[in-house]
Amino acid sequence: MEMIDGIEEINLGYRLAKRYWNRGLASEAARAALEYVFDRREVASVVVVIDPEHTASLKVAEKLGFQNFHETDFHGRPVRLYRMTHGQWHESRQRTIRAASS
Ligand SMILES: CC(C)(COP(=O)(O)OP(=O)(O)OC[C@H]1O[C@@H](n2cnc3c(N)ncnc32)[C@H](O)[C@@H]1OP(=O)(O)O)[C@@H](O)C(=O)NCCC(=O)NCCS
Repeated sequence: MEMIDGIEEINLGYRLAKRYWNRGLASEAARAALEYVFDRREVASVVVVIDPEHTASLKVAEKLGFQNFHETDFHGRPVRLYRMTHGQWHESRQRTIRAASS
């Protein structure tokens, strides 16, 4: 939990040592974390805070199904704040299941 724009949020962060990049590990781990908070804890929403210049981080967020963002300031840096709701998580998971079975 973290205070962002004056609201207490569940902030999902991901960071790996460089030798492990581009193997799908961050996406897999972050998807498991989302599954846990949305399905087991039934939270209403989760945010990710991303520097718009970090292409790989943006890509991971997109792959997880984060779509809506606004620009804000986080610890003095301009960032994108993406939010995924419980409903969006379920929609995104259905899309993944449909894509895998077609
Ligand atoms: C962000 C980070 C965790 C991603 O980890 P990862 O395990 O490599 O991520 P994944 O392999 O699951 O996915 C990365 C995606 O970005 C893509 N990508 C990586 N570098 C890229 C670049 N420079 N330009 C475009 N796409 C890029 C990869 O091709 C992959 O997409 P794909 O699956 O469609 O091929 C890792 O790069 C990292 O630790 N970066 C430094 C810390 C950081 O910036 N953290 C973000 C704080 S929110």
